[in-house]
Amino acid sequence: MALTQTELKREVAREALAYVEDGKILGVGTGSTVDQFIDLLPTIREKIPACVSSSERSTVRLEALGFKVLDMNEVDEIGVYVDGADEIDPRYSMIKGGGGALTREKIVASISKRFVCIADESKKVGILGNFPLPVEVIPMAARAIKARLEAFGAEVTLRDFVTDNQCHILDARGLEILEPEILEREINSWPGVVTVGLFAERGADVLLLGTNEGVKTFTR
Ligand code: 5RP
Repeated sequence: MALTQTELKREVAREALAYVEDGKILGVGTGSTVDQFIDLLPTIREKIPACVSSSERSTVRLEALGFKVLDMNEVDEIGVYVDGADEIDPRYSMIKGGGGALTREKIVASISKRFVCIADESKKVGILGNFPLPVEVIPMAARAIKARLEAFGAEVTLRDFVTDNQCHILDARGLEILEPEILEREINSWPGVVTVGLFAERGADVLLLGTNEGVKTFTR
């Protein structure tokens, strides 16, 4: 019998436990797949002195389970960062931010030695862009950034959501992202953009993909 998407998420979350480095600070992402990972962390509690989290949501869950969560400013380097993705392509570039935590996710990933992406098989794509690309913006810039994204051929909506950074998110539909690194640099350069949810310059290092034939591991 085919596994449900939730069961696939649970399987990759379980597999990711083996990537947690003993005695090192663990980076923890955000989303329903990561929630499953967090729920399993008590089984390896003794390996984890502290975590850095990419959202208030994950921080609350981690603290409720008794884990110490450090502020990024207390930390120089993270060993492993475990997070999900909305889409991931063959070069390990990702669209992230479906859960709205893209900026903090990018910050935590930037000081992590290894990015382990956990995802069910629906997330693996040939070309990024079927999933709406999230762009976090300073509220006063939303209209201007929307117009710039529309000039790229996107259909853009303002999400009814305020981020952990008190900013807004635009979701850009209909982009066929053939050169993720170039688009990431371009959108990030626009005044008022906090972060674009393209993770290409710093993509994943390992992909754990939940499939009905078991968890498949891809390493860059
Ligand atoms: C949150 C994210 C998530 O990693 C992404 O949305 C995947 O979420 P889920 O595990 O719920 O499918 O980028 O900002």
